[in-house]
Amino acid sequence: MARVFATRRLPFPAMDRLREAHEVREWPGALPPAPDELLAGARDADALLTLVTDPVGADLMDACPSLKAIANMAVGTDNVDVEAAKARGIPVGNTPGVLTDATADLAFALLLALARRIVPGAAQVRDGEWKTWEPAADLGADLVGATLGIVGRGRIGDAVARRAGGFGMKIVHSSRSSGLPLDELLEHADFVSVHTPLTPETRHLIGAAALDRMKETALLINTSRGGVVDQDALRSALHAGSIAGAALDVTDPEPLPADHPLLDAPNLLVVPHVGSATVRTRAKMAEMAVENLLAALAGRPMPHPVT
Ligand code: DGY
Repeated sequence: MARVFATRRLPFPAMDRLREAHEVREWPGALPPAPDELLAGARDADALLTLVTDPVGADLMDACPSLKAIANMAVGTDNVDVEAAKARGIPVGNTPGVLTDATADLAFALLLALARRIVPGAAQVRDGEWKTWEPAADLGADLVGATLGIVGRGRIGDAVARRAGGFGMKIVHSSRSSGLPLDELLEHADFVSVHTPLTPETRHLIGAAALDRMKETALLINTSRGGVVDQDALRSALHAGSIAGAALDVTDPEPLPADHPLLDAPNLLVVPHVGSATVRTRAKMAEMAVENLLAALAGRPMPHPVT
């Protein structure tokens, strides 16, 4: 029996399979373990089951002499130093594919919420500000015929494009290997939806220069990683009205403190990193993470390896 340290309680059926095969310790806190708590939990573990909230760097790996596998219950692996793991022969697995539709749904929900001013409208009703049917108030943007610019064209970008097609939008994209140059996309798009992983190259990809290129009427949606958007630049752009609004499922840092200056910006909607948060998706993510651990601890290749 190997020792597995899971960095949170994971109330999913797949965990029973893991417990039958191995000794599983789950971090009992409602919040992620602090770095020293993570280290204490991981030190004698043969395998880690981690979340996007847990930084797993070379130092941690070096402090865990028995570590043979890391299963990250996420598709993104920017919290794990994958190169360091590779150099130490520790396989890393993730959960690609299963969260594509849930995340694309959320991107589209945010797009629609921004386009049709759902959040300010709901606040107006709740605050007793709904006086009458106003002919020229609360006017939003049409989707049909509008151009959606997708930044990054992996599985989730594709799934967003499929949804946009159903709404009669024109779709353009920009990725490393295909589509328009980013500047051109930004100049033409009415909506920009970001779906690129966070890497040193994509950190602050959507910064002041990119935001400047966008139309004043354009709306920005980010469901990838907070670090892809330069939040200071976004705050300035929203205050200056150089773009019309933004919706973020991801921020830098996470969680975003309630007194963070970004939250003063007008026409900004922020939700707490819930792209994959559906009952079925999270259960499947746990299943894939468990499959990765069971395989690696049996000396087999992970079925969902990070390459
Ligand atoms: C991921 O899987 O990378 C998401 O951001 C968390 O669900």
